[in-house]
Formats: sequence, structure tokens, C-alpha cells
Amino acid sequence: MARINEHYQKLKAGYLFPEIGRRVRTFQQDNPNAKIIRMGIGDGVLPLAPAIVAAMKTAVDEMGQTEAFHGYGPERGYEFLAKAILDNDYRPRGVDLQVEEIFISDGSKCDSGNIQEIFALESKVAIVDPVYPVYVDTNVMAGRTGSIDSEGRYERMVYLPATAENGFSPPPPDMGVDLVYLCSPNNPTGATLTREQMKSWVDYAHRHDAVILFDAAYEAFITDPEIPHSIYEIPGAKEVAIEFRSFSKTAGFTGTRCAFMVVPMALKGIGRENEKVSINTLWNRRHSTKFNGVSYPVQRGAEACYTPEGQKQIQENINYYLENARIIRAGLEKLKMDVYGGVNAPYIWLKTPGGIDSWKFFDKLLNEAHIVGTPGSGFGPTGEGYFRLSAFALRENVTEAVERIHSRLKL
Ligand code: MLT
Repeated sequence: MARINEHYQKLKAGYLFPEIGRRVRTFQQDNPNAKIIRMGIGDGVLPLAPAIVAAMKTAVDEMGQTEAFHGYGPERGYEFLAKAILDNDYRPRGVDLQVEEIFISDGSKCDSGNIQEIFALESKVAIVDPVYPVYVDTNVMAGRTGSIDSEGRYERMVYLPATAENGFSPPPPDMGVDLVYLCSPNNPTGATLTREQMKSWVDYAHRHDAVILFDAAYEAFITDPEIPHSIYEIPGAKEVAIEFRSFSKTAGFTGTRCAFMVVPMALKGIGRENEKVSINTLWNRRHSTKFNGVSYPVQRGAEACYTPEGQKQIQENINYYLENARIIRAGLEKLKMDVYGGVNAPYIWLKTPGGIDSWKFFDKLLNEAHIVGTPGSGFGPTGEGYFRLSAFALRENVTEAVERIHSRLKL
């Protein structure tokens, strides 16, 4: 019989969101009349913008004609989309990148999960805790950690606690690491890194020859003009950082799938003979071996996000979610809860009332108010005692959820 990859046996039970789904299904079976409001997973509810739908339809029609048909596309994505990304997401922010530095993919979950493959198994990895679970779990699967302790920390992984005291943005550690995952605006806490904080990370990476894996999937939700949208707005970042971006949260592509990674030519790793190796070349080798590109109609839809009407329409959706976040925050603050995030991010991070643990609060909210959220401890041990609510919901559900929390939750 084939032996399995034993590192998988180190993983905590199930992946967070399927586990929540399982508990909610059980609750619904036991309470068939309960009208559940879902504010757990960050999944858009508004339809794709009309400009995106029109572009996708045109592209599908092309696929039905011999002369316009597209078979396998370039694995790293069509140049039309890479150019639109450079012209709209980067050049206006003073960031000069080349088409060859962009890799279009089917999602930041895959990108941020797969990237660790091209780094040595003995790499020391740091994560901010709490964190998007994919960063940790994929390193565990690869065998980069030891086993998990009773508090939920893996041996050999460096945890940087994100607490209310440090504004949920811990500073770089004193020790050196090889890889560090950063996420701004942050999932789950909604905190953002200031320019100075980003600079301290870029300086740290230069000092310790570390690579920053910068997840900017939520950058479209930044409202504060002082907060950078890209790590490359910091001088020197191209030599030390990879950036992940996604159309999922920006433009409702969670079901359609399109994202991209920036791997600058200036970024180098160390090879067998201690020689410098281009990370871009390595990632291109990995990407073109294991991936055949995002479908043509989807890439045309993503391109349409950058047209003037596309920009206007997706901004309206982002504003809608941000207004949801404002309503949730205001509702919880009225109850004197400690609430964070939700201003430059679609997530609200709250301290569980009465100091109960995160899963107990999950059950309480589900049982008393029929609302689904995400337990903070699911994102890491320092998330214990916290809870995340997602603003990706219909407005009527958001207002009803706030009303139910006020009227039904026994605080
Ligand atoms: C979340 O709710 O944290 C995200 O939707 C998960 C994801 O993007 O994969």
C-alpha cells in the first residue's frame, strides 16, 4: 500500500471554512425554520458588473467562431490583461513593472499556497498570528514544520502575535527568517500596514535576505489615501517581495476565478552552488509545468474591470460592502463591544463579549441570532477570544443581523 505524505497528519482537523459549513448544515437540519444569515466566509453576493458580463459574453461568442477561437492560452496569462494591470494598478502609483513580471492565475488561495514550493524545505517561515490559514497549512503539508502544540502552534514556524496593543500589525522580529507572509488589508483583522510599517519590513528583508510574500487581495477596500496599495510603493521592495492580487474580492470573481502574482525580475534566491537564482524564472518554470492558464473569457472579463465603466461599477460594489462594514461596526459599538477593522477592509474583527472563547461565541451567535461568523481561533492561537464578521452580504441581511444581535443575543 502506498505510504501517504505524513505531514498531512500534522494538520488540525479540517480546513476552517468547510468545518464552519459542516456546523451550519447540522444547525439548519436541526432548525429547518431558522433563517440563517451568513457572514462567515468572505464571498461576494453582488453580481458581476455589467461591463464584465458584456466582455465575457463577447469572448464566449468569439470562442464559438473558428477564426476567433482560443485554445490553450499563454500559461502566464494573456498580454492584454497583464498590460491592463500594469497601466491601472501599478503605473499610477509610480510602480514600473514589465509584462514578464505578471503571472495570471485562478486565485490567490492557490498562489499563496503554491509559492512555498520553490523555496527550500529548511526555510524558516514567519507568519502574523492570526492569519489566513492557507499560509500555515501549505507549509505544514510541505514538511516545513514540526508538530502542533496544545495551543495550536507548529514547531519551527515563527509566530508574530497580532494584538490590540500592536494594532494587529506586529513589527518585524529580531531574529532573521527566510520567508514572511504579510497581508494588508489584513484577513482576518482588517488592519492595514502604513507606509512606515511596510518600509520596516522591506528594510528587514534586505537585512536578513528574506522574501516577503505580500498578500494584497483586499487592496481595493483601502479608503485612507495614505495607505499603500502595493508593497512596491516602497523603494527597494522589488528586490525582496512577491505580491498577490485577486479579482475575487475586488470584482466578485470568487466563482469565476482570476488573480495574479507579481514576481519581479530583481528578486533573487540562493541556488545549490550559492549562486543567485532568478525567482521569476523559477516560478515561471513551476507555473508553466503545473498550470495551463485562466480561460480566455474570464481574462477578458478581468480586463473589463479596468475600463472606465468597469472601474465605476466595481467601485460601486466595493462601496456597498464598505457601507455594510460601517453598519456592522456602528451596531456593535453601540453595544460597547471592542471592534476593529471594517474601514479599509471588508472584515470586522471583534473581541468576544464576556471573554468567551471563539467557537463558543460562534455557537452562541448561531443558536441565539442565527448568524454565521468566523471564530478568530480558526486563524491562529492569538485569534482566540476574537471573532470575524464579513461585510460580503446583502444590505437587508446586514441590517437584520445587527438588529438580531441587539434584540436576541444574550450578552
Ligand atoms: C475568507 O473568508 O477568509 C476568504 O474568503 C477565504 C479565501 O479567500 O479563500
